Amino acid sequence: MAQLSETHVYPVLWHEDHVLLIDQRKLPKEYSVVSISRCEDILTAIASRIVRGGPALGMAAAYGLYLGATTIQTNDRTAFLERLEAIAEQLKSARPDKANLLWSVDYLVKQVRQSSASVDDLKADLLKNAQKIQQQDWEICVAIGKHGLAALPQTPAKLTLYTHCNHGALATSGFGTSLGIVRTAWQESRLAKVIAGETRPWLQGSRLTAWECVQEQIPVTIVTDSMAAHCMKRGMVDAVVVGADRIAANGDTVNKIGTYALAIAAQAHNLPFLVAAPLSTVDFGLATGDGLDIAQGKGTDVCHLGDTVTCPADVDTYNPLADVTPADLITAIVTEHGAIAPAELATFAQRQA
Ligand code: MRU
Repeated sequence: MAQLSETHVYPVLWHEDHVLLIDQRKLPKEYSVVSISRCEDILTAIASRIVRGGPALGMAAAYGLYLGATTIQTNDRTAFLERLEAIAEQLKSARPDKANLLWSVDYLVKQVRQSSASVDDLKADLLKNAQKIQQQDWEICVAIGKHGLAALPQTPAKLTLYTHCNHGALATSGFGTSLGIVRTAWQESRLAKVIAGETRPWLQGSRLTAWECVQEQIPVTIVTDSMAAHCMKRGMVDAVVVGADRIAANGDTVNKIGTYALAIAAQAHNLPFLVAAPLSTVDFGLATGDGLDIAQGKGTDVCHLGDTVTCPADVDTYNPLADVTPADLITAIVTEHGAIAPAELATFAQRQA
C-alpha cells in the first residue's frame, strides 16, 4: 500500500495487535475511529455498519478471523481448523450479500487447510494473509482506476461522472473501485466533477462519497436518486460508474438498490454504464442474476431520515438492499485485469486463471 498519507482515508487498518475502523455511521458529521481486538466486535461492527462496502468488509472479516483464531487454545491442527471454520461461518453470515467478504474468508480458510504448519504458525500466517488481502486490494483498485479511465469516453476532455452509493476509499482499502476511476480521472485532469446520487435509505452517496470528495477537493454535486434521469436528459452526465456486490458469470450485477434504475436511464440516454469491481466479485458458480434472493433491510430505514420520522406509524414498507442489473445494460465490467464486455467475462476469466 502506497506510503500511508495523512490526508488519505483508510477505513480498516491493522495497528499493532488490533484493528482500527472508521465509524462510517457518523460521517460526515463526525470522524471517529473504533479500536477492535475481538472477533465478536468485528461482527458487531459489520452488523451495525460501522464498516461497510464489499472489499472493506472483506478486510474487516479477514482481521476478525485472525482475532478469532488467537482465542483458539489448542495445538491440535484438526481441532483448530474445526473451530476456525465455525468462526468463518459466523463472519460470512454477517453480510452474505457481499461477495468480497465471502471471498476473503474462504481464501484465508483455504490457506490454513492447505498448510502443514503448526497451530502457532497458522495463526501468524492468518495475519500475514489478511494484510496481503489489504495490500492486494489497494493494487487492484489502482489498476481498476487506470483501466476504468481508459474505458471512458475520450471526449469531452473533462468528464462529469455519475455515481451511486459509495464505492470509494471507505468501501475498500483506501482507493476505491468506481470512485477509484473518479480519483484516477481527477489525478489525470480528466474530471470536471462527480454527480453523486444520495442513495436512500442509508445515504452512502451524500454522506460518504461527498465526504471523500471534499477531503480531496474533488468537485462533487449531490442529487436525490430521483434526479438521475433528468441530469442525463439535460446532458449533465458523460458516463455512469458504479460498484458491485456480486457479479454472475454472464455479467448480471447485484449492487445497491437503485443501480438497475440508473442502468436503464443510462441506456435510454446512450451513456456508458461501467461496473467497477475486483475479479473476486464475480461468482462463476452463479450463471445469471435471475431469481436471486435479495436481502431485505429494516422497514424503519425507509421511514426515517436520520432521527426524523417521514411516514405514518405502522405503514407498510419494502426495503430491498440491492437489485440486479442485467448484463445487457452494462457497457463494461472494469476489473484489475481490464475492462471487459459482460458477455466476454467467462472466457476472459479462464484466460486469467
Ligand atoms: O450497504 P453497503 O454500504 O455496504 O453497500 C455498498 C455497496 O453496495 C457497494 O456497491 C459494494 O459493496 C461494492 S463497494 C466497492
